[in-house]
Amino acid sequence: MRVFYYLIESHWMSFRKFRTFEIQNINIMQKIVILTGAGVSAESGIQTFRDGDGLWQKYRFEDLASPQAWQRDQKLVLDFYNWRRKIVWEADPNPAHKALVKLKEKFDVQIITQNVDDLHERAGSTNVLHLHGEIRKARSTVDPDLVYEMDNWELKLGDTCEKGSQLRPHIVWFGESVPMIEPAMQIASEADIFMVIGTSMVVYPAASLIVYVRPDKPKYYIDPKAFAVSGISNLEVIREKAGEGVPELVEGLLND
Ligand code: OAD
Repeated sequence: MRVFYYLIESHWMSFRKFRTFEIQNINIMQKIVILTGAGVSAESGIQTFRDGDGLWQKYRFEDLASPQAWQRDQKLVLDFYNWRRKIVWEADPNPAHKALVKLKEKFDVQIITQNVDDLHERAGSTNVLHLHGEIRKARSTVDPDLVYEMDNWELKLGDTCEKGSQLRPHIVWFGESVPMIEPAMQIASEADIFMVIGTSMVVYPAASLIVYVRPDKPKYYIDPKAFAVSGISNLEVIREKAGEGVPELVEGLLND
């Protein structure tokens, strides 16, 4: 039986009981798994969603980031993502993205990001799994396997895939399934160290990934508004901005 995980917003609850499997780690290098959210890119000038000036404080995601919005008004949805894509196009990685790259010196590093920007990759990180899609890519509306790298920030009505159908942003919208969550769960279950950076932890299934990390493994949560996640052991909460907290933690882990 295949299980589908759909994108939803919800407040934190304990998913511990769903942690169903544990696997043995046979790597020589320790595996460090990092879950990032909008906060890691905030200091690059990319707005978050739920802070005071966040996108979902001004706009309703139902109107811009859902299949219903796309059915109602394709131009509005394309314009919204064009605006955001242009900002990403012009943004640069910040000290948090850059510090994470240094972890490769000592660890087997895997980043799982909820972000649709490519700032981790542009900073030099190589293993980056995008849970919610990638804004610099467009996708066919008739064949989800047809995904195209964009060479500029604008996707227009009338831009079509090779089968002739309108292209849409390569983004997971609210109410859609999250195809990358199963590999992400497996990766989380293999973590020797788990880091969470800049996320409000209210969007599922991403927020449940921490539950798949073995209870005995150290976990860090860096976010100025981080809260104590209930039911999670060995969790250190660091209430700092990513640009400060991440380089400090990375130095500490490299020198440990
Ligand atoms: P949110 O906007 O919900 O949360 C952003 C988090 O970043 C908050 O907890 C802030 O405290 C924190 N933050 C702000 N500035 C920071 C900084 N300089 N350093 C570190 N943290 C900082 O964003 P996400 O949790 O990423 O999905 O949102 C999850 C998903 O909801 C997004 O991927 C997006 C959104 O709808 C889709 O669009 C599919």
